[in-house]
Amino acid sequence: MKNIVLIGLMGAGKSSVGKKLSQLSDYDFVDTDDLIEKKLGLTISEIFAQRGESFFRELEASVILDLSSQEKLIISTGGGSLQNPLNLENLKQNGFLVYLKTTPESLYGRIKNEKHRPLLCNDNPLATLKELLIKREEQYLQADFTIDTTDKDIDEITNEILKVYNENI
Ligand code: S3P
Repeated sequence: MKNIVLIGLMGAGKSSVGKKLSQLSDYDFVDTDDLIEKKLGLTISEIFAQRGESFFRELEASVILDLSSQEKLIISTGGGSLQNPLNLENLKQNGFLVYLKTTPESLYGRIKNEKHRPLLCNDNPLATLKELLIKREEQYLQADFTIDTTDKDIDEITNEILKVYNENI
């Protein structure tokens, strides 16, 4: 059975939606950032600060390659993972990709008090989110299913994803 792969910008709700999907199915939940942190014994911020973003991206690609050979997983991906086209290819091998789409303003509302995302530790995180969305949305729209989460609660989002997944696999 195909994995369900959640993609989208930071703050899109990939982890909370993924955990709920895992509760509603018999699929295990995995988060690529968590796996990277465990592998290195460092937080994402520490990895960016000590080893740089390109080192992080290499780890991200190897974690994604490994997960793509497994099945029945709910995979929450880092918001920048599709910048590498190979990751998209690998995730698609055995995955049903779901883009959690929402506005930069609502993403910002969710993440503004959080400090663990190095790319948003600057004077204007909302502007960064807007720029990243412009840069990345074309990649996100390669998903098998796009759900606009703006006015939906988690139950609506997860039920809709499971319905579409079951209809398409
Ligand atoms: C990143 C998103 C983060 C994490 C890292 C870089 C990005 O994951 O991988 O901080 O480039 O958008 P989340 O999308 O889970 O916050």
